Formats: sequence, structure tokens, C-alpha cells
Amino acid sequence: MRRAKISIIGAGNVGATTAHWCAAAELGDIVLLDIPATEGMPAGKALDLFEASPIMGFDSHLTGTTDWADTAASDVVVVTAGIARKPGMSRDDLLSTNAKIVGDVAAKIRDTSPQAVVIVVSNPLDAMVQRTFQVTGFPAARVIGQAGILDTARYRSFLALELGVSVEDISAMLLGGHGDTMVPIPSCTSVGGIPVTQLVKPDRLAQIVDRARNGGAEIVGLLKTGSAYYAPAAATAQMVEAVVRDKKRLVPCAAYCDKEYGVGGYFVGVPVVLGSGGVEKIVELQLLPDERAALDKSIAAVKELVAAMNRLTGGAA
Ligand code: NAI
Ligand code: 2OP
Repeated sequence: MRRAKISIIGAGNVGATTAHWCAAAELGDIVLLDIPATEGMPAGKALDLFEASPIMGFDSHLTGTTDWADTAASDVVVVTAGIARKPGMSRDDLLSTNAKIVGDVAAKIRDTSPQAVVIVVSNPLDAMVQRTFQVTGFPAARVIGQAGILDTARYRSFLALELGVSVEDISAMLLGGHGDTMVPIPSCTSVGGIPVTQLVKPDRLAQIVDRARNGGAEIVGLLKTGSAYYAPAAATAQMVEAVVRDKKRLVPCAAYCDKEYGVGGYFVGVPVVLGSGGVEKIVELQLLPDERAALDKSIAAVKELVAAMNRLTGGAA
């Protein structure tokens, strides 16, 4: 059977670490691509990772390149190209630089891998996934943003610390935009099947949610030179796995919602079923009035961000 071809655009921290997780899980053969100015960097990282494979025991062919032809006919393309946050910057501060980079990258994907499922990671995520959709013209199901798996992983990690239980026993769901405006759904958070509201008092839960909401900024503040990449890359690899192994994972991702949740044609974090076709289903939850209000606020923030991006790019492909 042919192995999946996974191209990762941007061989920086998130891109290279995504390659690492994907290779270690033998998800397919991996091409790491960066801009010509980086010269041997993507090839060096790919070769270094490949040389780890006899030790760690994984079969994955890894190559690094600056030539888009090498990515041709990929099954999955992951977009991590762009600049990352530094202390004092919000994700939205990256908008003008990354809208241009992601637009250029999306045009290359459209021309080289027209059948690919595209997973966008670059920030500001909710706008960059919309830009990729505009420029590729791909069916909405094949364009997906990574945010919710990372945001829920942070929330799950902090809950596990709070309760002194395994991270494996925490299950959670969040909706809305990436990070700052994410909307936790307490009725969908459980610990070994027990509703979280029976184990954590509301005010403490609110503090934990707030830490997860600011989880990206917490790491930026500690690293000082860039933003998080281990957990973001692990989240991205989980999405790649769901697609190449047709896992039908039910996870939160930024998906194109039109009638769903009354969004009206934007990418917003929602529960989806991820499989070989990309987003195979969007799951609509019954929301309580305060959850609905928080989601509406988050959707409004996404729309504002996309409007700002459209003013910069003209909106069209
Ligand atoms: P990084 O600076 O380490 O790597 C970015 C790479 O993109 C660089 O190697 C750069 O040369 C490359 N690049 C720039 N323009 C390119 C182009 N046109 N074609 C191909 N490659 C290009 O940054 P890092 O830490 O890897 O972050 C990447 C992006 O991911 C940032 O925008 C960051 O904000 C975002 N991010 C998103 C997360 C999410 O949950 N959605 C989580 C973490 C990061
Ligand atoms: C994060 O949440 C920067 O979006 C990135 O870590």
C-alpha cells in the first residue's frame, strides 16, 4: 500500500516538530519545505530526523526542500509558514505579514497538490484558515484550522494538575476562536466520566479556563524568543493522523461553518469528525444561554479579524 505523502510548509519550530511527531508515529513520508533564503535548513532538519529513525525504529522517509515541485500530489499539507509571536505581541499582530505569506503558500498548494487536505496552523489562525480557503478554492471540508485540540489540551493539562489525576482521564470540548475568545463548555468536560462541575468549584474552574485561554501568551512570556511548538505540533500531528488513517476523530477544529451554529460562512472552532475526507461532519451542540452568548462574542471577533484581513488582501484569491 502506498504511504501517505505529508508536506509541511515552514520548517521552523512548529513545522519541524510536527514532522518529528508525524515521523515517529509513521504517518507517512514527509516533505519539509521552507523559503529559498533558508537554504539547507529544511534539508538538514529532515536528514537529522531521518537519521534518528534507526534508533527510534520508525519507517518514514523525510526530505527537506525549498522547491514546491517536491511537494507535488501530497495527501495532506500542513501550513506553519509565517512569523510567530514575541512578548508583547498578540496573535492578531501577525495579521498583515502572515496574510501575505499564507496567501502565497495557498496558491502554491492549489497548483501542486489539488487533492490535498490542508491543515492550517499559522496565526492569527481563524483568519489564516479563511485566507487558505479563499485562495485554494478547495471544498470547505478539505481546509481545516488547528486550534481547538491545542486549547483543549492546555485546559485538560491544567485540570489534571488541579485534580491530581492522569491527563488521559480528562475529556473536554471548547468552541470559538483560537485562545483569547475560546468558549469552554463545562457540560462537555468530564474526569473519568464524572462531570467536572462535581469536582471543581465554579470560580476555580473559571481560573483554569482563563489560564488555558492565555496558554499561548504564558509560553511566549517564558520563551521570550518565539511561541509554543511542542503542544501545537502534537495537536497538528493528531489531525494529520485522523486524516491519513481515516480515524473519524471527534475533536475541536476550526471548520467552515455556514448554517452551523448560525455562523454564516467563517471558520470557527467547533466539534468535527475528522477522517480521510477532512471535516466529514460538524457536530452541533445544544448550548446554554451564556455559552451561546460567549460563542456569539467569539464569532464576532473572528468576523472582525477576517474583515481586517480582507481590507489588506482584497479578500479574493
Ligand atoms: P518559526 O519562525 O519557527 O517558523 C516559521 C517558518 O516559516 C520559518 O522557518 C520561515 O522561514 C517559514 N516561512 C516564512 N515564509 C514562508 C513561505 N512563504 N513559505 C514557506 N515557509 C515560510 O515559527 P513557528 O514557531 O514555527 O510558528 C509558525 C506559525 O504557527 C506562527 O504564525 C505561529 O503564530 C503559529 N502557531 C499557531 C498555533 C496554533 O495553535 N494555531 C500554535 C503555535 C504557533
Ligand atoms: C499558541 O497558542 C501561539 O497560537 C499559539 O501557543
